[in-house]
Amino acid sequence: MSATEIETHPDPASLQLTPAGDLRHLLTLRGLEQGLLIDLLDQSEAYLSPPGQNAVRTNGLAGCTIGNLFFEPSTRTRASFELAAKRLGAEVLNLDVNMSSRKKGESILDTIYTLQAMQIDVFVVRDASAGVPAYIAQHVDSHISILNAGEAEVSHPTQGLLDLLTIRQHKGTFEDLTVTIVGDVSHSRVARSAAEGLATMGVGELRLVSPPALAPEPESMPGAIIMSDLDEGLRGADVVMALRIQRERIDDLDGIPGADEYFANYGISHERMKLAAPDAIVMHPGPMNRGIEIEASLADGPQSVITQQVTNGVAVRMAILTAVNDSQKLR
Ligand code: CP
Repeated sequence: MSATEIETHPDPASLQLTPAGDLRHLLTLRGLEQGLLIDLLDQSEAYLSPPGQNAVRTNGLAGCTIGNLFFEPSTRTRASFELAAKRLGAEVLNLDVNMSSRKKGESILDTIYTLQAMQIDVFVVRDASAGVPAYIAQHVDSHISILNAGEAEVSHPTQGLLDLLTIRQHKGTFEDLTVTIVGDVSHSRVARSAAEGLATMGVGELRLVSPPALAPEPESMPGAIIMSDLDEGLRGADVVMALRIQRERIDDLDGIPGADEYFANYGISHERMKLAAPDAIVMHPGPMNRGIEIEASLADGPQSVITQQVTNGVAVRMAILTAVNDSQKLR
């Protein structure tokens, strides 16, 4: 959508809780208390089944309708929201944006109002423009919830939660951990939501490593250590997360290293991981560019928890859908 379509809107953190403190929308991890994050992580664990067993299914959302509105491409987030909703017994609408009336000039709010009239209860929204999930949250009927499934470079709260869950499964607590995020931090909603969630959980140290042209504004990620030397960033790290270069958000590629130079200086590899803690885990939100930000055999090796992140994504989204549905019943 065009930025001009978005009116001035309040801080998303101020929109997402009901007056009783229950989660109505999930727009950002910023401002959510540690106790609420822990409850969501614990609930997510309850939606995981042992390897090789069928996925957990309940009828907790029977009668509800979930609308997936992805105005940017997605594999993991969209598929996992759909599976999460179906495994909870909900009905799912996946709007085919390219075949929708948005292509004929319909505004995003008219699209939302049209689907709201079809009794959708929860909208899952991904958009390339900042502010869209909060803008929609301000305008929907009071019984409806909005879940941010990726907002420009600003926020990806369910990804942040699944990253917290994966780290907690391997490391137990956050206080003593050094977490290193490597790559295009400046354009990464994944890094911002991870930083917000890790700060709330009291992480020991968060290092953000990137080429200078892809470094974040320090004030956008308070408390993190911004670095450009990967070896220094990896030294003693307990958790290493690689990010891809978000070329779709970069107008001018001047100053951005080419693939070979990037891998040589910022790619994580078996060799480089020798600098990290011996039991360090390797994460990547996907989609991955093997051989650019991560060595292929490292992504598939024993330190990698990348597929576990994907599995956790379904469980986390089940927990979020349940939480907002529970708060809808109380409203
Ligand atoms: N991690 C993530 O958001 O992946 P998708 O773009 O495939 O949803």
